[in-house]
Amino acid sequence: MISGLIKSLFPLLLYFTINYSCSLSTPLNASMYSVNMKHILKWSLLQASCSTVNYSVQFQGEYELYNLNGTWVDAYHCQEICENRCDLTHDLASNSDYNIRIKTNCDGRKLLTNLPTTFNRRDTVLLVPKMTVNVKEDPIQVGFSTTLSDMTVNLEVWKEGDEQNALIHVVRAYPYHISIAAHRGKEKMCFKAEALVEAINKSCSIDTQCVIIPKQTTDFMRPVMVSIAVVVAVTVAFILGWLATHFGPQIKQTICHRETIPNVLLDDWPTRTPIFCTDVSLEPTNQVLLLLPAQHQCTAVHLGGNGLSEVKCRT
Ligand SMILES: *[C@@H]1O[C@H](CO)[C@@H](O)[C@H](O)[C@H]1NC(C)=O
Ligand SMILES: *[C@@H]1O[C@H](CO)[C@@H](O)[C@H](O)[C@H]1NC(C)=O
Ligand SMILES: *[C@@H]1O[C@H](CO)[C@@H](O)[C@H](O)[C@H]1NC(C)=O
Ligand SMILES: *[C@@H]1O[C@H](CO)[C@@H](O)[C@H](O)[C@H]1NC(C)=O
Repeated sequence: MISGLIKSLFPLLLYFTINYSCSLSTPLNASMYSVNMKHILKWSLLQASCSTVNYSVQFQGEYELYNLNGTWVDAYHCQEICENRCDLTHDLASNSDYNIRIKTNCDGRKLLTNLPTTFNRRDTVLLVPKMTVNVKEDPIQVGFSTTLSDMTVNLEVWKEGDEQNALIHVVRAYPYHISIAAHRGKEKMCFKAEALVEAINKSCSIDTQCVIIPKQTTDFMRPVMVSIAVVVAVTVAFILGWLATHFGPQIKQTICHRETIPNVLLDDWPTRTPIFCTDVSLEPTNQVLLLLPAQHQCTAVHLGGNGLSEVKCRT
């Protein structure tokens, strides 16, 4: 009796068990993360056993909803993907309220999950950029840690205590350069900025920074340094030239390691004998061996009949 009941219920139990495990009734937990105009859709992974599972994302703006009979547009980069995230930055390109859904395909069975609320890119979170003021260079540089493609920064610059006369710069290229050389070394300059993303008419303000612009030493130091360098170069060149013309032979002697010859040996030679550091004798020579007290041996070579002689030393 009982076994008969179990026997008859078993196929039913089996049917429910199989259907429950394979049913795709549990929706995915989907949410949109949008920061600085970058829109990322994320969802939980499907909690069902499938041999292959993949996801496709579709969206529908007000135009599709009201003008195209509620058609859905495929997110170009997110069709039959395996990961559970989709970058919709380029798809959600107007200030429209978008419906977004994820189609899950588990071995051919399908599950549709809608994002619980519509998404409008005006909901994006703008992170306040960090402003850096570099006063060492001239012109000074004002940089921002994040710059979005359609971001405009309205930069206010004023002398400390004179904010009502602030100059407003509209910054579109980064880093921004400002020439305020006139204020160098005099007073503190203050900088405040507001970053505006025009496409969504949303802005955030960047805190005021007041900095002393140091007097730039290079302004007057540069010509002085150049002058000093020129004077030094000219002086060195002059000294070298003078040394070369006056001490040329001596320098050559040093290179040849010529030892001093006792006066006795030099007495017979013509005074002011030019000495050449060369081994090449172009004319026939006759050699005279000079015996020296030191361990160096020198050979005086008379070059032909012109009275010139050469001294060669060996250790
Ligand atoms: C869905 O995701 C959100 C954000 O990640 C989380 O706070 C929430 O607990 C999740 N809910 C479920 C049912 O997983
Ligand atoms: C919208 O759908 C209706 C009925 O479903 C149909 O009659 C109409 O032609 C459709 N319009 C467009 C633009 O597809
Ligand atoms: C996605 O899943 C379906 C069924 O599970 C499968 O037929 C299809 O080939 C998968 N697509 C990719 C790109 O893997
Ligand atoms: C932008 O927003 C400001 C207020 O935040 C508003 O006064 C202005 O009209 C808006 N401009 C546009 C074009 O929507």
